[in-house]
Amino acid sequence: MKWLCSISLLASLTLNPALADNTQLPSPNLPRDAYVNALLQKMTLQEKIGQLRLISVGPENPKSAIREMIKNGQVGGIFNTVTRQDIRAMQDQAMQLPRLKIPLFFAYDIIHGQRTIFPISLGLASSWNLDTVATSGRIAAYEGSEDGLNMTWAPMVDISRDPRWGRVSEGLGEDTFLTSQIGRTLVRSIQGAHPGDRHALMTTVKHFALYGAVEGGRDYNSVDMSPQRMFDDYMPPYKAALDAGSGGVMVSLNTINGVPATANAWLLKDILRKQWHFSGITISDHGAIKELIKHGVASDPEQAVKIALNAGINMSMSDEYYDRYLPGLVKRGEVKEHEIDQAVRHVLNVKYDMGLFRDPYNHLGPVGSDPQDTNAESRLHRDAARQVARQTLVLLKNRLQTLPLKKQGTIAVVGPLADSQRDIIGSWSAAGRPKQSVTLLQGMRNAVGNKATILYAKGANITNHQDLVAFLNSYDHAVDVDPRTPQVMIDEAVSAARKADVIVAAVGESQGMANEASSRTHLTIPDSQRQLIDALKATGKPLVLVLMNGRPLALVRENQQADAMLETWFSGTEGGNAIADVLFGDYNPSGKLPISFPRSVGQIPIYYNHLPTGRPYLAEKPDKYTSHYYDEANGPLFPFGFGLSYTTFSVSDVALSNPTLKPDGSMTVSVTLTNTGHRDGGTVAQLYIHDITASVSRPVKQLKGFQPVFLKAGESKRITFTLDANALKFYNQQMIYAAEPGDFDVMVGLDSARVKTARFTLL
Ligand code: NOJ
Repeated sequence: MKWLCSISLLASLTLNPALADNTQLPSPNLPRDAYVNALLQKMTLQEKIGQLRLISVGPENPKSAIREMIKNGQVGGIFNTVTRQDIRAMQDQAMQLPRLKIPLFFAYDIIHGQRTIFPISLGLASSWNLDTVATSGRIAAYEGSEDGLNMTWAPMVDISRDPRWGRVSEGLGEDTFLTSQIGRTLVRSIQGAHPGDRHALMTTVKHFALYGAVEGGRDYNSVDMSPQRMFDDYMPPYKAALDAGSGGVMVSLNTINGVPATANAWLLKDILRKQWHFSGITISDHGAIKELIKHGVASDPEQAVKIALNAGINMSMSDEYYDRYLPGLVKRGEVKEHEIDQAVRHVLNVKYDMGLFRDPYNHLGPVGSDPQDTNAESRLHRDAARQVARQTLVLLKNRLQTLPLKKQGTIAVVGPLADSQRDIIGSWSAAGRPKQSVTLLQGMRNAVGNKATILYAKGANITNHQDLVAFLNSYDHAVDVDPRTPQVMIDEAVSAARKADVIVAAVGESQGMANEASSRTHLTIPDSQRQLIDALKATGKPLVLVLMNGRPLALVRENQQADAMLETWFSGTEGGNAIADVLFGDYNPSGKLPISFPRSVGQIPIYYNHLPTGRPYLAEKPDKYTSHYYDEANGPLFPFGFGLSYTTFSVSDVALSNPTLKPDGSMTVSVTLTNTGHRDGGTVAQLYIHDITASVSRPVKQLKGFQPVFLKAGESKRITFTLDANALKFYNQQMIYAAEPGDFDVMVGLDSARVKTARFTLL
């Protein structure tokens, strides 16, 4: 009998070529499931656990330590290394392991460009143009894959209604529909036809879930939210990006109604896997498994590991816990090996999808092909960066047509951000080099050549607060402080301004002020710069503020002082040229805000798609017992969807194909858009709906469609949207997702505040 068993086992091994040799990878020609099953059968527990570890190269883990880990099979993927030489050396090591040579994958935070830096995500969203967004995604993937990388920790689709949170800069704004569309576009453009293609990267949608709703806008804080708000407003962008095929999802650091996302089986199993059928990989955020102890849901490291793995975290980022504690937990039966197999399966699946089993060097090529100079100019995509960047700039104010400027006379360019190469590329600037970025000053000089005189003075430091400077410089030297006194700097700027015909002042935040772990309680421009603006204003010269910032700022005072204001976010490698294009009218601004700009921090949260109250405040008929602040006007300073142009547009009344809509039918909503000014220009037609009476109170407006439109001076175009009942659905009290019959307003406008309205009935 014993003999028989062994013979049949032997037969099965020889019959199944995939199992024939326990030290070799299966044939890469097998389909994915067969391949991964065959490979799993060959793996020891230790090898499996090794695959679940994702290690960051950095001071905690220098390359020498990582080399040891690779040698011991203790690592499945690596991030924060960005040159082919380094990546190749590590992959070579994995390929030299005595047994299974499972390739490593290499990831990086490519959020808005790899070497060519595009505008920050909030800026990209301001283009409201999916083709523009796709261009940035494709180039980021191209450059990342040329550097040997396989995966990016992007897109970030956390809805946020709280500009105190520094990470609004990384997201796509406050709106569910816009964020979903852009998130989906980024996944498709970064992953291309297939994430294993030579110039594609696999995406990791983050941060799942609800990270943008941290209480008080304080980073890493808790989230508490009703299920309706969660699934109507915050969850759809993750779902849209995952449905677009993202191979990965990164789990957020916050709690959700008391349970950390990293420990949340409801989130990671019930919602993500069972309801949404996500089949890719889940990755914890940096050190999140360790943090379960501080969250107070695990008493010790072993329990943290057990909870995280059982909740559905496949790969652990940047902690040694899985490696250290899983073997014992399995031995004692506290974690089942099949749970580990399930997690490993996802790692191997994505490695298969990234093409690594067919060719571990698929993004590296032969040794001789490595670039001589990784930072070479020829590796950048400057033209595309400039084209994209100019579409992300939002004109907030333009009194008496101060802009566009003429390329003549004398222009004073001032402000701490006017010539900062580091700041203009923003935070998370991947492998982008500040030295290769074009500042506003340089861009303006390029634009005017010798036609005009440009005078430059810094005018102020970003801030005069030493503590803030120390904070901004705590991890790298990001802010240069001019040692002169504030008054000397202001005097120099005022003297330049007095000699000039117009002042262009670049003011706002340094990039480090709008980043991870950079929450603020004030949203005003720092005092050092406000004093500069006051002094510039006092010269009586036309004052153009070029705003650089990574979040909505409270700009009531500046709005009163400035003749023109251009929101430029952090506009990337070609930012200075792109801003100059707009300032001089070589490009007519077309960007629109993807997030409301409050008047003051006390109004937060302020977002356009709020619910109506029983006591709405009417500015034209004020009443004490209505919903408002007695010390602040209601509503934002600049609404969601807002942005001016150098031309003017008119929107006709809204025409509907039908006054009623059948539950399974569709209708068209159209307007005629006319360029009523004297310049060609682009704008964005925006469609909003409002469910007037429903079983639960519904938002006063919700974006359900948008179309970028370009019109020549005097030209008119008919713009048509198609609407069906899907756009009218929401979660009711019983969490049933359905549209309710009744009357709806449909509104079309060029921002969320000024719209034309028509009414229809859903049958
Ligand atoms: C922590 C951040 O929250 C996340 O967005 C990022 O991708 C990881 N660190 C890796 O850098």
